[in-house]
Amino acid sequence: MSEEELKQFNSLSLAEEATMGKSNEVNNEPNVKEQTSVKPSNQLEGGLLGWYAACSSRDIKEGKLHNFSMYNEPLVLYRDKDSNVRCIKDLCPHRGASFIGGELKEGELVCPYHGARFSSKGECTNLDRLTCSHIVESNYDNYAKKIHLSQYPCVEKDGYIYIYYTGKAKTDLSDFDISSPLENTLIETYGYKTKEYEYEEVTVDFKADWVRIVENHLDILHIFWVHGGTIPDKDVSRNVITSFNQAITRESRQIQSKYNHKDKSKGEFITVKFLPPGRVIIYKGDEETSRYVQVLDHIPLAENRARVIVRHYRRFMKNKIFTNIFLFRNLQHRVFYKVFSEDYIILKTQSFNQQMGYVEKDNVKLLGEDKMVQYYWDWLQNALIKDKPWELHPTNAHTNTVHKDMPMLYPPENPRLAIKNKRDLAINLAIRLLIPIGMILLII
Ligand code: FES
Ligand SMILES: [Fe+2]
Repeated sequence: MSEEELKQFNSLSLAEEATMGKSNEVNNEPNVKEQTSVKPSNQLEGGLLGWYAACSSRDIKEGKLHNFSMYNEPLVLYRDKDSNVRCIKDLCPHRGASFIGGELKEGELVCPYHGARFSSKGECTNLDRLTCSHIVESNYDNYAKKIHLSQYPCVEKDGYIYIYYTGKAKTDLSDFDISSPLENTLIETYGYKTKEYEYEEVTVDFKADWVRIVENHLDILHIFWVHGGTIPDKDVSRNVITSFNQAITRESRQIQSKYNHKDKSKGEFITVKFLPPGRVIIYKGDEETSRYVQVLDHIPLAENRARVIVRHYRRFMKNKIFTNIFLFRNLQHRVFYKVFSEDYIILKTQSFNQQMGYVEKDNVKLLGEDKMVQYYWDWLQNALIKDKPWELHPTNAHTNTVHKDMPMLYPPENPRLAIKNKRDLAINLAIRLLIPIGMILLII
């Protein structure tokens, strides 16, 4: 999304803000005192550049390259010889080939074009393979040192691969000035005791504007209407009145909205947190004791391409034997895949409407329950102006789409995994039914 489009959307949002109230602790009743207020200051510290959970640890297998991109910039993740994860720019410094189709030999990356091989630090370890050694020897400083990979800082923690994305990969990792600490992104920092939970997760890919997807996950209203028939909760259905009292807070590290039922005896429905740049946490109750915690990480692959990692931590169904017997994992994945497919056509067409400039003042109206989205947009506007992430690796209509389309690995864009999950579920259910039938037949 361009800055101009964003400004247009925001001018609409700001006009609406006056009718929604804007103090740090609010209900969705209009706040008469504050109706004349101007745009609130951006209180979140983090911008769009910084730590992203770029993929799940389980996706980075020894000896395999994991291609993806961020803000149009093609990147590769892999495990080096010590199993540490590396995030490198997908550009061979010899003649500019991509590492797609390259290989890993003893944890060293090998280019598919002329076989340049790179150590974990990024140095070329077989320069003699690429050039006449007398040239290298006489011009080492000018020539050989330039054959060096560019990388981003990368940390593996709690089953996630975090990368510190700045848009400017460097040959020496110690040259990065890491201004936003990784702690601000970690779930534990906010009091969740995730080590006490089990979790299931899936990764999903969308051909849609990543902002629309984050917004979708901050939007409580649509859950009832779009996912009412899929989410296994009797209180989530099209027939439930979808209006809540909201308590919204904006702090330096998070925006949080607690949704309480209007019927006070029912208490809290859900709490949603946004941690910049791309993490959304959904839970109920206290952070420390919540029965479940859902963590959604949003990765801006390219314009109109985004990836989401959704992880559902739970305190229930922790017993591995039980979860196996009840096929809990497959069932959970089926819910995830279905929920994301339900959103997909909306997100794609909504992205189109945004790109075409249809989502402008007077065409759309934010409601009280959209306040979380409003606050997100406040942050986003400032962050886009400050960081300009889409200007770091701009593409145009003539750019070929090889990198854009390649990472679309997961459902709903690529339904292969969802189909496999469904098939596994059907086969396992059949086996569970056939075993007792077989035993009865044997006894007879
Ligand atoms: S382009 Fe990579 S080795 Fe030549
Ligand atoms: Fe949704």
